[in-house]
Amino acid sequence: MKPVSPLRLPALDRRLSRIAEQVPVCDLAADIGADHGKLSCHLLHTGRVKRMIVSDISQHSRDKARDLFIRHRLMDRVSLSAADGLHALDGQKADAVIIAGMGGALIARILQQDVDVQGALLLLGALVLYPIVATVTAEGWRQVGDDTLATVFQQIADEQRARGAGGAA
Ligand SMILES: C[S@@+](CC[C@H](N)C(=O)[O-])C[C@H]1O[C@@H](n2cnc3c(N)ncnc32)[C@H](O)[C@@H]1O
Repeated sequence: MKPVSPLRLPALDRRLSRIAEQVPVCDLAADIGADHGKLSCHLLHTGRVKRMIVSDISQHSRDKARDLFIRHRLMDRVSLSAADGLHALDGQKADAVIIAGMGGALIARILQQDVDVQGALLLLGALVLYPIVATVTAEGWRQVGDDTLATVFQQIADEQRARGAGGAA
C-alpha cells in the first residue's frame, strides 16, 4: 500500500474551499465551531493565516482538531478554545472570524452575543440542510418571514459595506 504523507494538506470540499478563498492574508483568524479543524489547518499550512483561534464546544471535535494540528506540527500556531461562539475571542483582535457549517439560527445567536469582534471581517456560511437553513442573506430571511435574522444579516452587510467603502483593512 502506498504510504500516506502525514503532512499532506487535508482536502477541502467546495464549500470550505470557497470560505478559505475569502479569508484575507492575515495574522490572526478565528474558526468558530471548527469541528475537524480542516479549514484552520489549511489556512495555516498555506500561510494565509499566521495564527488561529480554533474553537468548538464539543470535546470530541476539539480532540479531532488537536490530532490534526499535532500531525501537521501546527500546535504552536493554534489556540484551542472550548468557549461558546464568539467568547472564544477572549478579548483578542482577530482579523477574520469564520462561522461556518452551522444553521442560520445558531449563527444568528452567536452574532448576537455581547462580544466585540473589533472590526474583524465576518465570514458566514450556513449549513446547507434545506432551503431555509441555507438562506444566509438578509433578503433571503425576509422572504421566509424571519425579520430578526433579516435585521441581523442586514446589519452585518451594512457594516461590511461601510468598512469596505472606508478602505478599512
Ligand atoms: C457541522 S460542524 C461545522 C464544522 C466546520 N465549521 C465546517 O464548516 O465544516 C458545526 C460545529 O459547530 C460546533 N458548535 C455548535 N455550537 C457551537 C457554539 N455555540 N460555539 C462553538 N462551537 C459550536 C459543533 O460542535 C460542531 O462541531
